[in-house]
Amino acid sequence: MIPPGTATARAFSNIAFIKYWGNRDATLRLPANGSISMNLDGLASVTTVRFSPEYAADRLILNGQAQWGDPLARVSHHLDHIRALAGTKQRALVVSRNNFPAGAGIASSASAFAALTVAACAALGLSLPERTLSRLARLGSGSASRSVPGGFTEWYAGTDDQTSYAESIAPPEHWDLVDLVTIVSEEHKAVGSTGGHALASSSPLQAARVADAPRRLELCRRAILERDFAALAQVAEQDALMMHSVMMTSSPPLVYWQPPTLRLLQAVQRWRAEGAPVCFTIDAGPNVHVITTAERSASLQDALKQVEGVRAVLAAHPGGPAHLLADHLPAEI
Ligand code: DP6
Repeated sequence: MIPPGTATARAFSNIAFIKYWGNRDATLRLPANGSISMNLDGLASVTTVRFSPEYAADRLILNGQAQWGDPLARVSHHLDHIRALAGTKQRALVVSRNNFPAGAGIASSASAFAALTVAACAALGLSLPERTLSRLARLGSGSASRSVPGGFTEWYAGTDDQTSYAESIAPPEHWDLVDLVTIVSEEHKAVGSTGGHALASSSPLQAARVADAPRRLELCRRAILERDFAALAQVAEQDALMMHSVMMTSSPPLVYWQPPTLRLLQAVQRWRAEGAPVCFTIDAGPNVHVITTAERSASLQDALKQVEGVRAVLAAHPGGPAHLLADHLPAEI
């Protein structure tokens, strides 16, 4: 039996082709520029939220471990937005599990805050349109706004809380791309995304990156809608390199790359020159997301494993929207 005030949601991580880096308003997470991503099927967070008048404080259990300090405070703060909407002060027990390896260098905040938002709203009986859920998820983690809708999604920068949300621009079955998540390091990064966003404007290159964003967004949107791999490859690689140029020229500089990162970039460019549909993108870490088509994914996965320094390769196809799981109840509840 599912107790009252309880709901579970599942959401997928996503990989951005046009990146979010820097906020115009850090409190509301209004981004400096719009972004476009693909949800990653199978790389999921499953989160159960139980509100009860009997709880004295919020609690968070992540992958079986009770959390304190910053992670708990961030979740609790996020629940405050949802409690305010529902008009309740009830505290909650949050039980969340990622099915991708912890420390695999896959950002979990997107899937985590998308699942948390959808579960918490349902647990409090709030039935909200997808756009509102995406806006709420954005307050917890910017990239989580893009994991609420399904498939290929675009987050509009907007000008205020109302206008900054993500929506689907194509469903998952539109284009069977594969993200080969190529792991070169499982270390925790010294500066995470939230800290990195705050540094973006200290780079003299950020203004140019942001000013050019509408052009890249247009090229990327069109490449996805027309399933034009060559066009996607060109704009996604340029966008990732522009973001890393900003990172590397911030004060202090953020250099996320490691030697295998560069080896992978060069291997991918060589394979593309030889005719393979393949391109790279990189988030705030050393791991490389190698994007290709379903037909080429198995052979490329083998080739990637041969590159010196590669520890593992995970394959993800386009994923659907965040959704409720009706019958799920973790042991901890
Ligand atoms: C490099 O969404 O993780 O992955 O809003 O502070 O949680 P917060 O940041 P986050 O930033 C993602 C940065 C990125 C690029 C992207 O996914 O667009």
